[in-house]
Amino acid sequence: MTDTTDKTAQKILRANDRGGYTVPTPGLYPYQWNWDSAFAALGFATFDLNRAWQEVETLFQGQWTDGFLPHIVFRVDEPSYFPGPSIWRTGVTPPTSGITQPPVVATVVRALFEQDNNRDRLEALYPKILAWHRWFATYRDPLNNGLVMTSHPWETGRDNSPEWDVPARGVDSSKVEPYERRDLGHVDSDMRPKKDDYDRYIAILEFGRSVGWNHKTIAEKGPFRVLDVGLSFILLRANRDLLALAEALSRSDDVDFLRDRIELAEYGVSYLWDEAIGAFCSRDLIADKSSGMCTSTSFLALYADVGSVDQRARLFENFKRIATTTRYMLPSTDPHHSAFDSKRYWRGPVWAVVNLMAAIGFYEQGYALEADRIREDTLSLIKKAGFFEAFDPISGEGTGGPDFTWTAAVWLYWSGLGQHFKDDIGEMV
Ligand code: DGY
Repeated sequence: MTDTTDKTAQKILRANDRGGYTVPTPGLYPYQWNWDSAFAALGFATFDLNRAWQEVETLFQGQWTDGFLPHIVFRVDEPSYFPGPSIWRTGVTPPTSGITQPPVVATVVRALFEQDNNRDRLEALYPKILAWHRWFATYRDPLNNGLVMTSHPWETGRDNSPEWDVPARGVDSSKVEPYERRDLGHVDSDMRPKKDDYDRYIAILEFGRSVGWNHKTIAEKGPFRVLDVGLSFILLRANRDLLALAEALSRSDDVDFLRDRIELAEYGVSYLWDEAIGAFCSRDLIADKSSGMCTSTSFLALYADVGSVDQRARLFENFKRIATTTRYMLPSTDPHHSAFDSKRYWRGPVWAVVNLMAAIGFYEQGYALEADRIREDTLSLIKKAGFFEAFDPISGEGTGGPDFTWTAAVWLYWSGLGQHFKDDIGEMV
């Protein structure tokens, strides 16, 4: 029997607290990660609102002067993790990585603000978030259609998704400097990326380092350039939430920029629609080709409030097909695809944070049954296995690291809402 009370979830957040910021899990991920911290803030908000704001504030200590918000802030050098600050060599203080991560922060900050109306804290954070969103518009919208280009699988947060297999084949990893992986000392190798994939991650990192982390050059010449469904939907949603915050603060100068970005993306997403699959799929920019895969992030179309009536009908066919054959929703990769692997990183396991965003989208768009199924499955997985990083969608077994910050946060967020989920979720985020 696992111990999954709110108290245990709170204890995990406190235990992973390193003094104003949390690590995702000790050992495997011993620094502050970008979207992990955003979700951590949602968890803290259920019992310590001050600490919730602080989590986002410390994340922005790693922001670069051009608005870029890195995916990791390294404040110490932890031998338990590779690649650490001495490998990234971005030359900034505090040391950070040189790539970003899904921008859920604006959405979370809107939720915090709606909870306590803390104008001072919002005033301080708002320009920083806006600068990051402007950075995306400047460096990561190569087709000027509001979609987000990723330069590294790690930026998508879905590191080892089979969506990256084909685009990553063009990455030359033959000259990668010798390195020693540390992740395999913490987690079973059958739950982690394989060596070839890891070599490519490091080769892409070394490319960024070789051009001095010049984001313009990376966007134009990087060896991995893909329009990511997840990043695109998450940023579209985040721009809407930032617009609501701009209006709350009467920042009329920013409203036009945000409205333009939203409108561009609303039309732009059609570029990601794959008619053969009946889903929004990521698209390799170098080969100009759809991944042809329905993943858990394809279902974030509702969270981003996009898709025509016909597209949504096709998406629901996929949902039903997967839901009737899979015990626990949402598997990160379509279980009927040959690349599906129920245990390996982002190739099959269920992730509580994607489920949270997907359920919010389903609920908001009037699909309460599907939202409830996703929520119930997430809570059942946690009750069965504990606060793991992810879960096998077939057996329900925990995968990846234990005592995971964002899993505890999602638990708290959902258990806090309890039976009132149906009524309250639209208001919370
Ligand atoms: C890793 O090291 O596996 C991370 O996911 C990179 O963000």
